[in-house]
Amino acid sequence: MKTILVTGSAGLIGSEVCTYFHTHGFKIHGIDNNQRAVFFGPRGDTRWNLERLQSQLRSYKHNTLNIQNRTDILDIVKEVRPEVIVHTAAQPSHDLAATIPFDDFDTNAVGTLNLLEAARRYCPDSPFIHMSSNKVYGDLPNTIQIKELPTRWDYNNPSYVNGIPESFSIDQSKHSIFGASKVAADVMVQEYGRYFGMPTCCLRGGCLTGPNHSGVELHGFLSYLIECNLTGREYKVFGYKGKQVRDNIHSEDVARFMFEFAQKPRVAEVYNLGGGKTNSCSIHEAFDMVEQLTVKKQVSVYVDQPRIGDHICYYSDLRKMKAHYPNWDITIPLSQIFEGIVRAKQSML
Ligand SMILES: NC(=O)c1ccc[n+]([C@@H]2O[C@H](COP(=O)([O-])OP(=O)(O)OC[C@H]3O[C@@H](n4cnc5c(N)ncnc54)[C@H](O)[C@@H]3O)[C@@H](O)[C@H]2O)c1
Repeated sequence: MKTILVTGSAGLIGSEVCTYFHTHGFKIHGIDNNQRAVFFGPRGDTRWNLERLQSQLRSYKHNTLNIQNRTDILDIVKEVRPEVIVHTAAQPSHDLAATIPFDDFDTNAVGTLNLLEAARRYCPDSPFIHMSSNKVYGDLPNTIQIKELPTRWDYNNPSYVNGIPESFSIDQSKHSIFGASKVAADVMVQEYGRYFGMPTCCLRGGCLTGPNHSGVELHGFLSYLIECNLTGREYKVFGYKGKQVRDNIHSEDVARFMFEFAQKPRVAEVYNLGGGKTNSCSIHEAFDMVEQLTVKKQVSVYVDQPRIGDHICYYSDLRKMKAHYPNWDITIPLSQIFEGIVRAKQSML
């Protein structure tokens, strides 16, 4: 039985990866110290998700470790020597990072280095899959000419009709402190691939979503928006007339791609992993979709100030992923993503 080591295993992506690989016969070692509750308070608490994993996955073994702790990370990788490493533990919020820059960098950049070096010493041939972010492109996507449509912005440049490709520059733009710590990790993951020949990849995520997100205002846009709709809480729209566009991918489609990569790994790869244009929506369009499902009016307030470094329009060009891994495609459309989150939230309220 092969073993996978998943960091951030109680989070949205980590927990989905545990479930997916378990279904495919893997033994699972998870690492998570519930740091999300420290970052975001009780609403970010992921213990419910960990309990779910422990009750549903027979081969799941949990390790309450902090990825910032170098010795602990070296020790666990030495002990487990996993056949695959999926690294999803992170400080994930763009906005929060500026208030906790040491914690943000120590988690996102140093934590990633700890894992990479542990992998190089004890399992250098094991695929190392890192969750990066589209924030590595900083606010450079905002320099693409756009057009205003009734409910959303869209690119007005034929070069980006399929979305943002991996060749887009990550340099000389405003990233936010979070985006910069993710750049450090992303480049280091690529370097361990190029320099040491390890099978690493960076997945530059758009909006990753699904029912298992402990969504909060500062992270987990759809999950939080839907919770606001169901509970009647006011949702704050920050700038860009509420027409800013995000591409949304269900966590199961993320895990499916990771599985494909683990089966046929490549060295130092980078992919833009989002829902692509077909799974994209603006905030206004998201309001409409959720209102149709719940028949509840979304309560919102407009703040005429965009978040620093926020994208006006972003959707991923998925062509490189599909070319390298033809078995992979998006299988969960946006409507189904909404339905799944609404159902999950309703059952928890
Ligand atoms: N969700 C998104 O929309 C999105 C978009 C782009 C990129 N990403 C990236 O994908 C990855 C996973 O995101 P997610 O939405 O699943 O986040 P999440 O917050 O749901 O999960 C991350 C998990 O990591 C754990 N963690 C954090 N710091 C830790 C530490 N120091 N030691 C051990 N565990 C720690 C948290 O407790 C949490 O359970 C992150 O790298 C994030 O930056 C997410």
